[in-house]
Amino acid sequence: MKIVCTQASQVLGARLAGRLGVDTIDVKYSRFPDGECSLVRGPTDDETVIVAAVNDADALVELLLLVDACDESQNTLVLPYMAYARQDRRFRPGEPLSARAIARAVSGGVDRVLTVNLHDPSVLAHFRAPAENISIAPQVGAWVAERNGNDPLVLSPDDGAAQFAAEVAGVGGFDHDYLDKTRLSGERVMIRPKSLPAEGREVVIVDDIISTGGTLATAARMLLDQGATVVRAACVHGVFAGGALLHLAAAGVDEVVCSDTIERANSCITAADRVATALR
Ligand code: R5P
Repeated sequence: MKIVCTQASQVLGARLAGRLGVDTIDVKYSRFPDGECSLVRGPTDDETVIVAAVNDADALVELLLLVDACDESQNTLVLPYMAYARQDRRFRPGEPLSARAIARAVSGGVDRVLTVNLHDPSVLAHFRAPAENISIAPQVGAWVAERNGNDPLVLSPDDGAAQFAAEVAGVGGFDHDYLDKTRLSGERVMIRPKSLPAEGREVVIVDDIISTGGTLATAARMLLDQGATVVRAACVHGVFAGGALLHLAAAGVDEVVCSDTIERANSCITAADRVATALR
């Protein structure tokens, strides 16, 4: 087995190779004069693990090219983050099922797919190969335990992530709960007042994705108003669109971390151990 990764997943790919004790395949990435992506891979093995977060259009194209370049081996696709996964329903006639479109596109030419904390696991049915979703909630929980020692209160910003928060909190037997959220627009949410025992507590808000940070910023302001001593945040996928980290700092969030499913400066949590276990 060898590991190959797109440019978006170099850190996770290298960590995964280390965990599994296998080699990585060198890839030369470049561009044609018109801006199109180009790559040349080194020698593959009979079995190749392709690690490729899809967080923008170039990352998607690189993944498609890499799968095609590895067409002589048996391929497992590790898809740490899948853009468009939240668009799994049609809200207006004529809209695409974007999650399905991406799932179908990336899974041609692969024999197995592994996703990490896919927003809605029902999307797994759209891949053209057997697909499995793994959760790194235990790894997020380990960060919570290490960084927030003083009996933290773990909260999810909505009931959709309540199970995730329960799994995170389960690592240390921490208190956990969720907030009621109503989305007003793509960037604004309303958190209905709820009687949470946040006063005097260290609060950690956990979610699968932080995108604009609107969800979290609103929740953090409310919790600090209620007397939380500190609010930190941890997520799996740090999208951080449109200056999200600045918005969160302005809302009083003390620290924001994410995992390496999308590689960021604050990727303090790794998915490598959990993915390695699934691949063994
Ligand atoms: C929604 O259901 C997700 O779990 C996240 O809460 C949401 O995607 C975060 O979006 P934003 O950071 O833009 O509020």
